[in-house]
Amino acid sequence: MCGIIGYTGSENAVPRLLEGLRTLEYRGYDSAGIAIFSEKNSLTGIKSKGRIENLEAKLSYFPDASVSHCGIGHTRWATHGEPSDINSHPHGTPRVYIVHNGIIENYAELKDFLISQGYTFSSQTDTEAAALMIDYCYNLTQNPADAILSAVKRFKGSYAIGAVFSSEPGKIYAIRKDNPLIAAISSDGCFIASDLPAVLKYTDNYMRIDEGELAVVEQSGIKIYSPDKTEVKRDFKKAEWDVSCATKGEYPHFMLKEIHEEPTALFQTLYPIISDGMPNFDSAGLNDTRLKKFKKIYVVACGTAMHAGLVGKFIAEKMARVPLEVEIASEFRYKNPILDKTDMVIIISQSGETADSLAALRLAKQCGAYTLGVVNVPGSSVAREADGVIYTHAGPEIAVASTKAYTVQLGIMYLFAFRLAYAHEKMDSSQLRKYTQELITSVPELIHKILDTQSECAAISKKYKNAHSAFFIGRGLDYALSSEAALKLKEISYIHSEAYAAGELKHGTLSLVCEDTPVFAFAGCADLLDKTISNLREVRARGGKVVLICQQGFQVPSDSYDDILYLPSCDQMFTIFPAATIAQLIAYYTSLELGRDIDRPRNLAKSVTVE
Ligand code: M6R
Repeated sequence: MCGIIGYTGSENAVPRLLEGLRTLEYRGYDSAGIAIFSEKNSLTGIKSKGRIENLEAKLSYFPDASVSHCGIGHTRWATHGEPSDINSHPHGTPRVYIVHNGIIENYAELKDFLISQGYTFSSQTDTEAAALMIDYCYNLTQNPADAILSAVKRFKGSYAIGAVFSSEPGKIYAIRKDNPLIAAISSDGCFIASDLPAVLKYTDNYMRIDEGELAVVEQSGIKIYSPDKTEVKRDFKKAEWDVSCATKGEYPHFMLKEIHEEPTALFQTLYPIISDGMPNFDSAGLNDTRLKKFKKIYVVACGTAMHAGLVGKFIAEKMARVPLEVEIASEFRYKNPILDKTDMVIIISQSGETADSLAALRLAKQCGAYTLGVVNVPGSSVAREADGVIYTHAGPEIAVASTKAYTVQLGIMYLFAFRLAYAHEKMDSSQLRKYTQELITSVPELIHKILDTQSECAAISKKYKNAHSAFFIGRGLDYALSSEAALKLKEISYIHSEAYAAGELKHGTLSLVCEDTPVFAFAGCADLLDKTISNLREVRARGGKVVLICQQGFQVPSDSYDDILYLPSCDQMFTIFPAATIAQLIAYYTSLELGRDIDRPRNLAKSVTVE
């Protein structure tokens, strides 16, 4: 929910911190701050409400900002206390400053204790309690590592923390629990960061810091210690992503760039799973015998990833005739689910760090279920903790609104459903090969065709941009897609939008449809077209405006829609892919028309590492 960065080295720290913060802004962007050592090794905290530009403007008043070689930085998504200068990070005392991502759940208790010890608080944040507790422990131990290790023993909650101590100029300490943190080394120094893209401009040599480990970062290198202070030897890895992944390139927004990356991302995700023309999940410990044995299969996820699960449910049940339940992770984790070792739980997560999804994964493991992570970020918590992992190779997704990650998650869900159907003898090997081939070769092409005609989506967006409310409807697979389409539009345009099963609108919601209400109807499947058309007429009879999205070549009566967008003709099972791209483009262009902050919509953050 927040982004943290740290640099220590021979170069000027501040440009590196600001660069890192800009890349991490997708994690939170309501305020930003840094703590830096001056040339004379004094420690200063500088922070500002609002975007990084505000912080940058403030820095011109601090001469140390142009000569510092070590510092930590933070970009915030407020959890405790409104966005303000005071609540911005870093927090601390002249002796120690920290930046923090996560939530210290027992901060009130810590605060009471610290007040009883003579401390005073200036912010409303949980982080200040953590910072002052580290200061308190430092006062007792006079040793930064001991201070951090003993302070975190008192914390309940989640944290990735970067800390600097005035007694140790040039050194950064970092520790984490349930929130991501990496360390990296470049030719001129070392970094800590919430996420790899923040350092890719300077280096591709990195290591992950594991739960509870303490990293001590200096210009010369990085040392990792276990909680009992034993040194842990860890090799650097080479980043799988390059710096171009973290830049917009020729595109005005990351979201548009990421939509355009979908065909490639889909191919790159599916290709490694295919062997002898068939999907193969052996590397995740899933052969056909095992697949057949699971009594129950769940997909547990949040937001867009959960919506990919809804599509997976439809395809798996249709093809394999095996029930698949989809659960919202924040509900699943507290519902005492009926699970045991005969069951399988698939956790889908782009970031692999979503707090609710991670908690659901841990619960499923405790119950003895086999857990499979479908994850985009290499080495993320879900990837490391699940029994098996399938990576989606979409590359970093920076825009808060998920687009290419959804497309590749769908791809995995399809391959999984196909193999499940084969394992259950509902599909033979030639059918399995045919569907697999179609998914990997034809589907990227279908998406390309939509991208080539994106001006049509832009025109529809312009026409309906002033709507107060919008509905997305469909039947079957198209209904599963509608949930994602509605989320996309509301998330970045702030237009209220809801998804409904096309046949369900008349059971109450139709009362909301009036003359300026666009109803976007997905009708990719020929076998349900007539039923959907009846529903569209019901909408038009109440003055609603229908935008129909259907396959090229479908015979559609002209009185059933106001506007029409065509999907390239293809097997109806696959129309959801180009239809998803249309939904994303409509959300994008509507938000563009409305002048929204597309990549960083209000109130949101990319990676939701708090409950
Ligand atoms: O990283 P995850 O896939 O676990 O994230 C889950 C949701 O927070 C995420 O999909 C969210 O709904 C997107 N911002 C929607 O565009």
